[in-house]
Amino acid sequence: MKPIRSDWTDVVLVCRKCAKKLDGGFGPGEEQTLPKALRAAISRREGGKVMKKPRRKGARVAVIEVPCLDICPKNAVIVIPAGTPGSWRSVPRGADLDALVNDLAPAREGA
Ligand code: FES
Repeated sequence: MKPIRSDWTDVVLVCRKCAKKLDGGFGPGEEQTLPKALRAAISRREGGKVMKKPRRKGARVAVIEVPCLDICPKNAVIVIPAGTPGSWRSVPRGADLDALVNDLAPAREGA
C-alpha cells in the first residue's frame, strides 16, 4: 500500500442525513447545518481556512460527512470523533459549537 500524507490532526465524522433532516439548527440564528457550523467553529479556533480535502493549507481538523449511522435521533445529529471511535455523540440542535469542537478534537500544542 502506498501511504498518502495529510495535514489533518483530527477527523470528525458527521451523519449527513441527520444534518439534512434538521434543516439548519446550528450557528448564528441556528440557520447552518452542523457540518457547516462545525467547520466555521474549527476555523475560528484554528485561525485559518477550513479544509475539505487533505494536503491543503488551513485548519487541521477535518469534518467528513458520512451516510446514516442507524441511530437516527430526533432533533440531533450523530457525530463520531475519529480519535475516540468508541464514544459517539448525539449533538442536539443549538449546541455550543466551540465547546463541541474542544470536546471532539481537543486543541494540540503546536497545531
Ligand atoms: S439519520 Fe443520522 S444516524 Fe440515521
